[in-house]
Amino acid sequence: MMISVTNVRKMDFEAVPVDAFWNAGDELELRMHRIHAYPAKFPAFITTKALGYAKTRRMRIRRIADVFCGCGTVALEAKRNQIDFWGCDINPVATLIAEAKSRKYQTCRLERYRNSILDAWPEIKAEGDSYRVANDRLRYWYDKRRYDDLLRLQAAIESVVPSRGCYRQFFLCAFSNILKSTSRWLTKSIKPQVDPGKKPANVLRAFKEQCRFMIDANAQSDLSGYSHVEIVTRNFLDTSMDCPRVDMIVTSPPYVTSYEYADLHQLSSLWLGYAEDYRDLREGSIGSLQHIYNFERELKRLNSTGAGVVFSLLQTHKRIARSVAKYFLDMQEVAKRAYGMLRRGGMALFVLGNTEYRGVRVDNARHMAESLLESGFATVHVTKRKISKKILTPYRDSEGRFSSDANGRRVYGEEFILIGRR
Ligand SMILES: C[S@@+](CC[C@H](N)C(=O)[O-])C[C@H]1O[C@@H](n2cnc3c(N)ncnc32)[C@H](O)[C@@H]1O
Repeated sequence: MMISVTNVRKMDFEAVPVDAFWNAGDELELRMHRIHAYPAKFPAFITTKALGYAKTRRMRIRRIADVFCGCGTVALEAKRNQIDFWGCDINPVATLIAEAKSRKYQTCRLERYRNSILDAWPEIKAEGDSYRVANDRLRYWYDKRRYDDLLRLQAAIESVVPSRGCYRQFFLCAFSNILKSTSRWLTKSIKPQVDPGKKPANVLRAFKEQCRFMIDANAQSDLSGYSHVEIVTRNFLDTSMDCPRVDMIVTSPPYVTSYEYADLHQLSSLWLGYAEDYRDLREGSIGSLQHIYNFERELKRLNSTGAGVVFSLLQTHKRIARSVAKYFLDMQEVAKRAYGMLRRGGMALFVLGNTEYRGVRVDNARHMAESLLESGFATVHVTKRKISKKILTPYRDSEGRFSSDANGRRVYGEEFILIGRR
């Protein structure tokens, strides 16, 4: 059941009932959705449900966008439904995976390239001092043997698979997804944390298994119908970027105070040469705690929900209040830009949860609903869905960090779906 929002101040978001329609999909997810780990990936069925919902409203969807496309969940589902897709993500690791997922590859070519890479690997020798002169951060994460093996593997991929065409992306994506298991990174943690007791995986074995999984997944996805997919590595708020007109936006925005995406992707960013210092990729990332801006001057642009949360946080957590304010200001711009992209009658669907920071509720849903209404959306509807525990760690510890400890405070047990119509 959807509740129509006209005045956010009068609305009790917590009392919005869960609508089971959005809780689970009706079919198994394609294996292609699992070719690469990605934080806060949302379930693929959200897109199918959104398309079903649009159909009941007699909408014709020819092009769909995900303005925070992450690892390409919506991209792949749009392609599968033969709908054109436009996606944007600031993080190059995200767009590498999204591109790899939304292409159809010939199995025989994938197998031929994979075999050639494995044949080339023993012939490639790592330079004697390659580890000594490696990026400090990579030396921190890898022992010499794994580092040299990865270097040779990367060289083998680059020597065998042409840089033009989409096949190189496929193998770089495979390479990217083994970087964690072959490093000292604590396996169970998405956050960067060394596990002193870990025995990192064997590079060649991990690559072979990863290729096998991806080649099978590709064979399973039926992407034979035609649709145009465009994925860009850009800041969605960059006003110099031309965004296409679309019928529908389906997206899950980043959260504030949860992850620094740039830090989580540091292994891939460094190996694939996206940055010399992975922290540079925090710039422009919405929800980052690291933004520098004029807080006092910008504060007055916050809408009423945003101002309420920020003033509550200011009493006790000044630094966090600044980050949350920046996040809300960015999300207000996101709402405006999303509105600008939609054709008349188009629909924008946002999936997002409320969070809590040290006892202060960060009311993302109310803030977004208010931002959508202020941006010109004629109607905004809201409903809630339950989240499977497997998808997100639902607790925060006393410091406000994510934790799997059930004694922590519960966050994200449910999340909101906000639908704005233009
Ligand atoms: C919750 S994730 C989206 C996950 C996606 N739905 C999926 O299934 O993979 C949010 C994404 O927003 C991206 N992001 C953060 N700031 C951005 C910005 N300014 N412009 C574009 N993307 C941004 C992050 O890199 C991250 O991939």
